[in-house]
Amino acid sequence: MKNIVILISGGGSNMAAIVRCAQRDNWRKAYDAQVAAVISNRPDAGGLAVAREHMIATEVVDHKRFATREEFDAELAAAIDRRQPSLVVLAGFMRILTPAFVQRFQGRLVNIHPSLLPAFPGLHTHRRAIDAGCRVAGATVHQVTTELDFGPILEQAVVPVLADDTADTLAARVLTQEHLIYPRAIARLLPQI
Ligand code: GAR
Repeated sequence: MKNIVILISGGGSNMAAIVRCAQRDNWRKAYDAQVAAVISNRPDAGGLAVAREHMIATEVVDHKRFATREEFDAELAAAIDRRQPSLVVLAGFMRILTPAFVQRFQGRLVNIHPSLLPAFPGLHTHRRAIDAGCRVAGATVHQVTTELDFGPILEQAVVPVLADDTADTLAARVLTQEHLIYPRAIARLLPQI
């Protein structure tokens, strides 16, 4: 069985979209794959309860318990390894990962970023797209490399930026597309891993 481990920090709506798609499209039968665990760096992440509702194992590796990024990443990597993952999915995981962590999982580590990469890596992507006068915005699913919000692109979705958009209204429009492209990108990857 190919185990998928999903990392979250917050509400976990992308994680939930992936879990729903895995159930609806029967990834166990189609790809011999399952979402094996959801791991959060925040004990209060709303997505943890959502994962439990779907009978998925959850775990918290609280970054605040660690003095350095390296120590946190080592503990996180150990928690992931215990699930024997074929694929590690960053879904709103809001921590910068060390090169050692990325190298350990490279080739089986994917992320979703709420911009049309390579535009707007980093934070506040929707505000920055509006301020730049962009007519379109979107989201990108990509393989993770040691460079932040960079790496081979697997899927993108484009949405219009409307004249009266705020960062919040644009984020909501982008998020609905994220929920479509992330499960699709993972389903495409599963036969190859
Ligand atoms: C999503 O928009 C995701 O693209 C973004 O955080 C949100 C998480 O929402 N990720 C990043 O900004 C990563 N740098 P969710 O917890 O509801 O999936």
